[in-house]
Amino acid sequence: MEKHHYTQEINITDALMARINELVSHYPADKKKSALLPVLHEVQDAHDNWLSIELQNKVAEILELKPIEVYEVVTFYTMFNQRPVGKYMLEFCQTSPCCQRGVEDLMDYTCQKLNVGIAQPTTDGLFEVRGVECLGACGYAPMLQLGDYYHEHLTKEKIDQLIDDCKAGNITFYDK
Ligand code: FES
Repeated sequence: MEKHHYTQEINITDALMARINELVSHYPADKKKSALLPVLHEVQDAHDNWLSIELQNKVAEILELKPIEVYEVVTFYTMFNQRPVGKYMLEFCQTSPCCQRGVEDLMDYTCQKLNVGIAQPTTDGLFEVRGVECLGACGYAPMLQLGDYYHEHLTKEKIDQLIDDCKAGNITFYDK
């Protein structure tokens, strides 16, 4: 299958660079690599929640690493996105307790409602549905994560409301 190459505007602002320098300062000068994970989070947050190869190369340059050292981290952790993603990423927990409480039906319902498959952004770029592993809120199953927030004891009605709130821009989903 042909691999699509997505392009992205890279914008390392002064504020972002200051934040990166601050993160790097937590570690010895010859151990900049230790700052890689938090730096990648900051850079991704500042770039519509994804990291192109070019942006990963830029991070490598800033941290004086080989590009492969950045690629291997980005490809390992599912919280780093390597392509454009929906603004509102609905990450449903798909581990057993949430499955036993009907999460798969809710995922089907949400995909049908948004007219998308799993891990496929809506055409307006607003939403994406994903399945993830246990998010540690099993007692509140079924649940999903949106940005920094959990939505628990999900029902179809709660999903309807959540989607309406997102469309209205009426929701806090990141703390910063
Ligand atoms: S099984 Fe869903 S949060 Fe743990």
